[in-house]
Amino acid sequence: MSERVEFYRHQLGESEAASWRGVLDTLFLTLGPQVAAFEKELGEYLVRGTPHTAPHVVGTSCCSMGLLLALRAFDVGPGDEVITTAMTFAATANAILHLGATPVLVDVEPQTGLIDPDAVRAAITPRTKGILPVHLYGQLCDMPALRAIADEHKLFIVEDSAHGIEMERDGVRAGQLGDAAVFSFYATKNLTSGDGGAVSTKHAHVAERLRRLRNHGVSKSATDRHGGIYQHWDLVELGYKANLTDLDAALLRPQLPLADAKRDQRERLVLRYESRLRQALGSRAPTISRRGVPWLVERRGRSTHHLFTIQPPAELRDEMLVKLGKEQIGTAVNYRAIHTLTYLVERLKMPRGSLPVAEEIGDRTISLPLYPTLDEASQDRVIEAVVRSWTA
Ligand SMILES: Cc1ncc(COP(=O)(O)O)c(C=O)c1O
Repeated sequence: MSERVEFYRHQLGESEAASWRGVLDTLFLTLGPQVAAFEKELGEYLVRGTPHTAPHVVGTSCCSMGLLLALRAFDVGPGDEVITTAMTFAATANAILHLGATPVLVDVEPQTGLIDPDAVRAAITPRTKGILPVHLYGQLCDMPALRAIADEHKLFIVEDSAHGIEMERDGVRAGQLGDAAVFSFYATKNLTSGDGGAVSTKHAHVAERLRRLRNHGVSKSATDRHGGIYQHWDLVELGYKANLTDLDAALLRPQLPLADAKRDQRERLVLRYESRLRQALGSRAPTISRRGVPWLVERRGRSTHHLFTIQPPAELRDEMLVKLGKEQIGTAVNYRAIHTLTYLVERLKMPRGSLPVAEEIGDRTISLPLYPTLDEASQDRVIEAVVRSWTA
């Protein structure tokens, strides 16, 4: 039996290990200089090559908590509605629900799986407070359209940018048109510290609130109070414990300068998947992948290529997952439309048929292994197994 092709393999190596070990010799293990340096470097990365000034960046324990903090920073609470997509991970809607607000799920564009701005506009009510688009698989949503809707109705935009920091579309980058963007450094993400996250925002007052909210709601962190004479701190609002640590930040910092090169390596693998699958499957697979590279070129877009998904017919999908598993190929499903998941069925009461495009993608999609160290021989094994299971 040949070796398993894992769905994901991180590429943390010696430079990350050295950076991490270096922190052990210092005073601060959390909310110290490594966090501050990473926040600054990520802010600079997000505007590199653009005329914009770097946003404020606030490191968080994960993207899920970053989303929660960002929504709190825009005062989302009971009675509010936040419009988001059904084609996402559960964390996106959970953040809204945890604050006692209602996630209003809308449908997505068929070609990309990204939130449909027309559907957003149609879902606005007097209770709508904000929009939470998701840059699915690393493709940027139609941010100019969403910004125009938000401005017209005085809504905030928090971008769920868990799928990367590298995306661009028509000259717009993550966080540029939204009021905040939230990133994930979870174990399978392009940049990872196992768990970790960050929120970027152009608004200084929002950043200040995020810093307080990630640290219980206290007025001064331990680092701010360090040195000199003891200073009292105060609890000024109800916050969370949700900060990035210096150990996480030390793992992340060496990965930042390599982010674009690794994106390019993933793009090469994506192009290879696309052309070989198209060759092998031909007319049997009119839609191989939802976010085809031609679309990106046409849009002058740059995907982070966080995930590569294929779209077999719905009646084959689950069988294919079993067959690929038996052939030792790691797969995932990103995502089943979230209103079809048990808790949200009960909570949101959106029957099947409510969001047909998201449901169709959710019933068809399979994510295949994609990471810079995936070698061509392993990728060929994946391609052959996919073709066998698709045509059997
Ligand atoms: C779209 C999306 N949003 C949010 C999250 C939550 O990220 P984290 O695990 O860092 O909390 C994920 C994680 O997979 C995600 O894919």
